[in-house]
Amino acid sequence: MDEKLVKKRRIVLVPLPAQGHVTPIMQLGKALYSKGFSITVFQTQYNRVSSSKDFSDFHFLTIPGSLTETDLKNLGPLQFATKLNQVCEASFKQCLGQLLKEQGDDDEVACVVYDEYMHFSNAAAKEFRLPSVVFSTTCATAFLCRSVIAKVNVDKFLTDMKDLELQDKLFPGLHPLRYKDLPTSAFGPIESIHRLYSEIVNTGTASAVIINTANCLESTSLARLQRELQIPVYPIGPLHIAASAPSSLLEEDRSCIEWLNMQKPRSVLYISLGSLALMETKDTLEMAWGLRNSNQPFLWVIRPGSIPGPEWTESLPEEFSKLVSERGYIVKWAPQMEVLRHPAVGGFWSHCGWNSTLESIGEGVPMICRPFTSDQKVNARYLESVWSVGFQLEGKLDKEDVERAVKRLLVDEEGEYMRKRAIELKEKLESSVRSGGSSCCSLDYFVNFLRMKSS
Ligand code: UDX
Repeated sequence: MDEKLVKKRRIVLVPLPAQGHVTPIMQLGKALYSKGFSITVFQTQYNRVSSSKDFSDFHFLTIPGSLTETDLKNLGPLQFATKLNQVCEASFKQCLGQLLKEQGDDDEVACVVYDEYMHFSNAAAKEFRLPSVVFSTTCATAFLCRSVIAKVNVDKFLTDMKDLELQDKLFPGLHPLRYKDLPTSAFGPIESIHRLYSEIVNTGTASAVIINTANCLESTSLARLQRELQIPVYPIGPLHIAASAPSSLLEEDRSCIEWLNMQKPRSVLYISLGSLALMETKDTLEMAWGLRNSNQPFLWVIRPGSIPGPEWTESLPEEFSKLVSERGYIVKWAPQMEVLRHPAVGGFWSHCGWNSTLESIGEGVPMICRPFTSDQKVNARYLESVWSVGFQLEGKLDKEDVERAVKRLLVDEEGEYMRKRAIELKEKLESSVRSGGSSCCSLDYFVNFLRMKSS
């Protein structure tokens, strides 16, 4: 590292306190640490990563500011993020100012890297004339969609999105995405999503964008995004391959690995809907019936709170435990990376969160795609029609469709083809983070970019 960067060698990270966002930003921290930077993580008081042995070299600070109990109880994830932006803006500015006052000569802050949903960080970085860098935890195509949506005529967009006849048609300029694949959210009305996207993609004052993706997955969207945003875009993923950083917010139930050890190679369907998606009781039962009828073993993550009722699976009708007891193993939270790497796992039924998508392709595991909301719909469309490593299960869930889908993935030749495609992509992803690979070079370009900003 040259002398100027030796002085400016601390990077401030601002994660959104949600599992799917914390994990990749901590991995980013590890990747930047490996390039010689010190890392300060500014956390809110919610869903904090502990400064465990995995992060003993990182410096953790808290942004003061809290939401009311009523807010915490009633707000959905999107409103929570909006409120957090309001509550943290002034206090973050103060904390960052304090950090800058206390910084040593050889440990100056080089830039602030913030989760795209924590856009209050941008104002503070600007006030102190620090480069501010947006970190996108979604794919480049979803980022591109948000940028396109933020620019279209609002009234026409809102009307079109409510027009049922348009939903299966291609959205102009975003091939192969259909209207129904656009990253609108189940967590809020379309009007507020549109407003939020305008704030997120307001990168006019940001200095650069880092995206957890690789060129081999999204070269067209990346090239277009680069043109649209007019600031440098650095695709440096998949970060989970480039830099491991265990940051599970929930306790992992490792007993499922012992259960997997007893199953035949590539026979098990792993099912997980990530950290936010919800399931209705009737869909859970249809799934249980279909899984049972498929005769394949399955490992199913049912996160407490993801199904209705105050209890865990005890709240489900009695037939549920009978259906899953023979071939299924149910846990509240799994060590997902280890599960996907396990030789017994033959397929992944996923909500298609971007981390799960990268982790599944990164292990060469084909997918049944059942997106729940926002960017997951974009990922599912790409998994099916661009990368051919999975297929979507759309519409109402019924047990016959579930049974057919499980067999299609784990038993039929078509599933074997998707597995081959996934293994090809896994190899490409691994090369992209190796020395000379596109993501590895992109990280070096980002370091050079900071060097230029510091000079
Ligand atoms: C959400 C969005 O879906 C995602 O697209 C966005 O980029 C971040 O926010 P989430 O819904 O939680 O995230 O899904 P996902 O992105 O897949 O992240 C879930 C993470 O939790 C993954 O890293 C996965 O490995 C981990 N996980 C999940 C576990 O460790 N154990 C589990 O049992 C389930």
